[in-house]
Amino acid sequence: MRVGILTSGGDAPGINATIRGVGKTAINHYGMQVIGIQNGFSGLLYKDTIELTDASLSGILNLGGTILGTAREKIFRSMIFSPDEKDREQIKDAYHELGLDCLVCIGGNGTQRTTWMLSEMGLNVVGVPKTIDNDVYGTDVTFGFDTAVNIACEAIDRLHSTASSHRRVMVIELMGHHAGWITLHAGMAAGADIILLPELGYNMRVVIDKIKKRMEIGKAYSIVAVAEGLEVPTNERPATYFAREIEERTAYETRETVLGYIQRGGSPSPADRNLGTLLGGHAAQLINERKYGRMVAKIGNEITDVPLSKVAGRLRLVTPDNDLVVQGSRMGISFGTYDYPG
Ligand code: F6P
Repeated sequence: MRVGILTSGGDAPGINATIRGVGKTAINHYGMQVIGIQNGFSGLLYKDTIELTDASLSGILNLGGTILGTAREKIFRSMIFSPDEKDREQIKDAYHELGLDCLVCIGGNGTQRTTWMLSEMGLNVVGVPKTIDNDVYGTDVTFGFDTAVNIACEAIDRLHSTASSHRRVMVIELMGHHAGWITLHAGMAAGADIILLPELGYNMRVVIDKIKKRMEIGKAYSIVAVAEGLEVPTNERPATYFAREIEERTAYETRETVLGYIQRGGSPSPADRNLGTLLGGHAAQLINERKYGRMVAKIGNEITDVPLSKVAGRLRLVTPDNDLVVQGSRMGISFGTYDYPG
């Protein structure tokens, strides 16, 4: 069998561990041939490929980024969802010309939707969920998330000392376009005082009251963790908006930090390496069993798989009954809409 692997969408630490997991299992355990498709789905169209071997898959386990390159895929997406059947025929032709028996697509929500569409077109595909945002529906966790949370947690830890020295409010903006998972987990792990998530919204009065109350009881500084996807009423970034509003409304010196792409770069954590390895190995197993049209997943402690049709077009978001939100609220951490527990 001949298997293609591609990576699409924003990169995440652990992709290379996953490519290695799929590739080495496919080659060494199932005797398959494996090629890497470069720079996402466009590499499929332009047949931009490299042969992957046991040797070429060595030494990449701890590397950040993706050895295959990745892209945001606007052109490919417009082709696959185009009303013109010819666009889809071109994609199918490229798949067949490469002699593929299956294509493994490693990516986030957008990629899984595209992968499902390829499956609907009759191509053999397996999806592997990937994103630091942890918002792929159908899996409890994606690789990249643990690494990003570690980086974000360390950043907040570091803000504590400088915030305390200067008696300032520190606002830190963390990644998460639709979902606040990184902000929730890093904020809780690093002891943020206010955690603002796109899913929960916020009330500025609650945020300001919380900061003032902390100052009144002698807590001379506050840390606000805000997700980048939180909607604010101006064109500012959430961190800029909250830092400005807080300083204006409380008169406490306030500073902002936008952590940005630091969260996506560099070496994956051991947990993300092992998650990528397990998901990759399971993808190879699905191919061997000819179980196509599915996305590998981790549900509870089990590595398993779910139909792409159930995943496509959906997001996994933080809900108010999340354990960390409930416990955090009970302890007095503000989620912007929650006051102290009764
Ligand atoms: O991969 C997810 C993510 O990190 C989001 O949190 C962020 O909004 C987005 O990627 C930004 O990605 P890019 O600038 O690479 O398109």
